[in-house]
Amino acid sequence: MSKFVVNGGHKIKGELRITGAKNSVLPILSATVLNGKINVIHDIPDLSDVEVMIKILESVGCKVKRENGTIIVDSRQLNNHKIPEELVREMRSSIIVLGPMLARCGQVVVSYPGGCELGPRPIDLHLKSLRQMGVHILEKHGFLICSVKKELVGCEIHLDFPSVGATENIMLAAVFAKGNTIIRNAAREPEIQDLQNFINAMGGKVSGAGSATIVIEGVDELHDVEHTIIPDRIVAGTYLVAGAMTKGEIVLTNIIPEHLLSTIYKLKESGCNIEYTKDTIKLIAPSKLRAIEAIKTLPYPGFPTDMQSQFMSLLAISDGISIIKENIFENRYKHAYELIRMGANIKIDGRVAIIKGVHKLTGANVKARDLRGGASLILAGLVAEGTTTIHNIEHIKRGYAHIEKDLRMVGADIYKM
Ligand code: UD1
Repeated sequence: MSKFVVNGGHKIKGELRITGAKNSVLPILSATVLNGKINVIHDIPDLSDVEVMIKILESVGCKVKRENGTIIVDSRQLNNHKIPEELVREMRSSIIVLGPMLARCGQVVVSYPGGCELGPRPIDLHLKSLRQMGVHILEKHGFLICSVKKELVGCEIHLDFPSVGATENIMLAAVFAKGNTIIRNAAREPEIQDLQNFINAMGGKVSGAGSATIVIEGVDELHDVEHTIIPDRIVAGTYLVAGAMTKGEIVLTNIIPEHLLSTIYKLKESGCNIEYTKDTIKLIAPSKLRAIEAIKTLPYPGFPTDMQSQFMSLLAISDGISIIKENIFENRYKHAYELIRMGANIKIDGRVAIIKGVHKLTGANVKARDLRGGASLILAGLVAEGTTTIHNIEHIKRGYAHIEKDLRMVGADIYKM
């Protein structure tokens, strides 16, 4: 099992290019089964979650070719509608194949994704919405056996919560549905807009992504498509925090600063100087970071839950007392206990974390318990006195392509062993 070894105390200084967003590429890859044609997708990040999605596409009959950062998916001939259980177990987001497989084949069987490291993560909103559109779903022996009763029919769906995955699954299922599908209280994440752009580029008719109401007009046919994935706002945010924590100076290119505004504002609150153009961001860290009175994770455009753990590392060395409230996931503070091993002063009470900044963290043996929490331990390692060894790094590889190489390029002393 490989691990990351970080020797703390080095400033992050330099420029990094950000690649395509994990949370965009997964639904977009699953959408390639829709057209039954050729899909060319650029700026694909080198992530283990992407590997799993490729295996899922191949398991249903797609032919997939990968060249550098480009993937070509030929979905002309599908010959299977049962998704292998081990792939769904490896990646909870595989549930995103439900919508496109039902739209294209009228049936799909997947194992129930169950819980994950962030808590129970139910999929009731996905299933309720698909049933409303005319899908028969049998939940049996840990499997979801889904088939379209007669045809998929457009309808009005009001989501109880703006779930990212449920919004995407409905959009994908509705592409060929009869009539219009209207999603109210839809998720507004930039990745939803990217999915809309992808579907429209292959001939679909989706509008409203980015707002709380999305309308999908059913079409009869789709065509070949070429698309570039939007940059990863969470990877970008993580690297900004690395610059901020190490009293460094970092420039990020190939990004859309508008997607990171809530992160940018919190970094400014902590004393960072940030300037941005339409596709670059420059951060200059202060000599001493300040505590942030309150961070509440919320659906986009609120502060992202996927940046919560990285900010916890930053606040662990900031001057004063900070409070975080995690509103999206029940069980997303596992990294806090590892940070405490490194000398952080953090108290957890349910969904609230109280962080009292300390003068220094000290290197330790720590374990990544989930993807972003794992990244937060690397960040802590960058400033800790001595050496930090991070175990279970397969979690981190799900969402960061070669994070150790990126950080080394801008001055960090980090190696994979
Ligand atoms: C997506 C992102 C993930 C991010 C999350 C929240 C991808 C591949 N993953 O995950 O990185 O952390 O959005 O921004 O895009 N919920 C239900 N019932 C449902 C669906 C969701 O109760 O049917 C709850 C979940 O348990 C969770 C909350 O809603 O508490 C948010 O989930 P959701 O927005 O669906 O997140 P994902 O799409 O799983």
